[in-house]
Amino acid sequence: MEFTIYLSLVFLALYLIGLALRRFFFLRDKRRMQAQSRLGGRTIARVDELQAGSVKKFRIICRQYRVDGFLVNDHGSFHAYVNRCRHMTTPLDFIRDQFLSEDRRHLMCYTHGALYEFATGLCIAGPCKGESLYRLPVRVDRGEVLVGCPEGDLSYLKD
Ligand code: FES
Repeated sequence: MEFTIYLSLVFLALYLIGLALRRFFFLRDKRRMQAQSRLGGRTIARVDELQAGSVKKFRIICRQYRVDGFLVNDHGSFHAYVNRCRHMTTPLDFIRDQFLSEDRRHLMCYTHGALYEFATGLCIAGPCKGESLYRLPVRVDRGEVLVGCPEGDLSYLKD
């Protein structure tokens, strides 16, 4: 009996330490991001770094949410989306860093094969047809691509 109580206390302590560490790293990353931000966004890539049709993953913090996103260069236009399929809450690159369909004309979710348009984030084929990826605002300034946080209710960014 005593052993069970002791073990429970150990697990509770580990859980609380985990929560505290998670909070610590979140606040540290948030401070870093604020320090690196300009024009309401964070620099994700240089314009000449990301070739047409290529994708770069990133992480930003929007209010209390840590957001995994990706930036895509659509023939010189940059678009950023939350890296979360609209069918289920899985990242598109279920196969690590794979975002494109075989013909490289669409974004693809590697879990069930949904296809999304580069420019709109609209799902045009697959189980989420008609839904759109969550867009993040993009700005190009001084040869850099900056991504910021959307306005309004961000509760959809919750894990
Ligand atoms: S989770 Fe993306 S298509 Fe099913």
